Amino acid sequence: MEMDDRFKEVEKRNREAELGGGPKRIDQQHAKGKMTARERIDYLLDKDSFQEIDKFVLHRCHDFGMEKKRIPGDGVVTGYGTINGRLVFLFSQDFTVFGGSLSHAFGEKVCKIMDLALQNGAPVVGLNDSGGARIQEGVGSLAAYGEIFKRNVWSSGVVPQISVIMGPCAGGAVYSPALTDLTIMVKKSSNMFITGPQVIKAVTSEEVTPEELGGAMTHNTKSGVAHFAEESDKAALDRVKEILSYFPQNYRERPPVVECTDDPDRQDMSLNKAVPDNPRLPYDMKDIIRTVLDNNKFLEVHQHYAKNMVVGLGRLNGYAVGIVANQPRMLAGCLDIDASMKCARFVRMCDSFNIPLVTFVDVPGYLPGVNQEYGGIIKHGAKIIYSYSEATVPKITVITRKAYGGAYIAMSGKHLAADINYAYPTAEIAVMGPEGAANIIFKKEIAESDDPETTRAGLVEEYRKNFASPFRAAEFGYIDHVIFPQETRPRLISALMMLQGKRTSIPERRHGNIPL
Ligand code: HXC
Repeated sequence: MEMDDRFKEVEKRNREAELGGGPKRIDQQHAKGKMTARERIDYLLDKDSFQEIDKFVLHRCHDFGMEKKRIPGDGVVTGYGTINGRLVFLFSQDFTVFGGSLSHAFGEKVCKIMDLALQNGAPVVGLNDSGGARIQEGVGSLAAYGEIFKRNVWSSGVVPQISVIMGPCAGGAVYSPALTDLTIMVKKSSNMFITGPQVIKAVTSEEVTPEELGGAMTHNTKSGVAHFAEESDKAALDRVKEILSYFPQNYRERPPVVECTDDPDRQDMSLNKAVPDNPRLPYDMKDIIRTVLDNNKFLEVHQHYAKNMVVGLGRLNGYAVGIVANQPRMLAGCLDIDASMKCARFVRMCDSFNIPLVTFVDVPGYLPGVNQEYGGIIKHGAKIIYSYSEATVPKITVITRKAYGGAYIAMSGKHLAADINYAYPTAEIAVMGPEGAANIIFKKEIAESDDPETTRAGLVEEYRKNFASPFRAAEFGYIDHVIFPQETRPRLISALMMLQGKRTSIPERRHGNIPL
């Protein structure tokens, strides 16, 4: 072959690969409001930064006439590029090629970039849009899934892994996203389930639409499988960029520090009024969080799930921080099973990637209830304790109001190796609420009194005054200082800067045994 022809052959094959399943299927993809696999990559990565790998890979299936149907690239576009100048590896499943279904060769392509990402310490972004295992390839496809899952696990806590669900994601295929750090779903066009509506109907007679069963809002509100629900492909890809800006490239690095355009010494008088006088009144903890963070910018994670707990990312003086907070507006900020899992998973993610933790506490305790006990609130609540105790990143805590009982300990209490613990003057730190405590301690006095109700009210008030305050804890040194709410931001920034040199570790072991 002449040199010229060889060059032309490359061009021909390039074009063929770039067309994927062909113009008709590309139109169908667009008609569903979806971008193609390549359009998604172009939108996500810095201009002209994408370097494709394995563009000419073909499947090797000879069953069911598949040998006659071969498309270069085989349904997934893989490679690396940059986002805001930082290296990422990615795979983008191409629904126009055999429904994006995963062949053995397809799996090998994904594994190749996962291996490169792990060896070179850079994040992996997976854009999922697939009918699952390539049925024609049978167990060969299952093997490929297994190889991917194993790499997801081996990469966990080493490099950030982000999954975006931009179409179907069914059967065992859902386990790859589930093993990654964060999952973003696109509303209306994506769904995730282990068994689809038809199988469910046949087995349990339950009738459910794909959207109800596994749509973006289902997984963002009910199951907690997904952390973000976005309106469109573009919005989801924008979210990936935003998320990665808070992460280091791998566990050996710290998150990037950006120039801070907000005054680190900024005080805010409105914070002095943020916690209502009446301890029974709710308020929005997110107002406090936003007021304190750089430029009031808070990227909430898991926004729609277990709303009694708030978690998310932000910056203080340009340094990335993970925020964990009770939300008094929802279930009075009680800890329940879902909130416990949400909190613990987030704390561990931050700790994996050197993101310091700032915890805002207003928690009356664990949520009472038979369902909670049967559901295992004991083991799930223990996850909070486990994750905070295990975390060695800087940990700063601010108690705004209630911090009672076990929840006081669990929410980044001093005793779980928190570094700096502050309390507002409105803080109530005690073994239990004044009513409960007074009823127990003064049981006899109340019962023997001529006017039990007045006596009870008086004793409750006395307990509140003496014990439901930050001062007992401060006298023990469990609270490092009682601060004025207006100065929260400068206090947090000062603590965070002081903790930049923190080096500590927990006892050596193979790995811990978190209560799952
Ligand atoms: C091979 C597949 C495929 C698959 C879709 N296609 N899924 N080919 N293996 N798994 C092909 C279709 O045959 C079709 O080809 C083309 O992709 C587009 O699919 P459509 O059905 O026309 O698209 P749509 O109507 O949008 O429906 C999408 C879908 C549906 C909901 C994903 O295709 C579907 O239900 N597919 C099967 C899903 C499934 O059961 N997967 C296996 C799950 S088991 P033509 O040429 O006809 O247009 C699994 C195990 C993994 O994944 C275990 C890992 C541990």
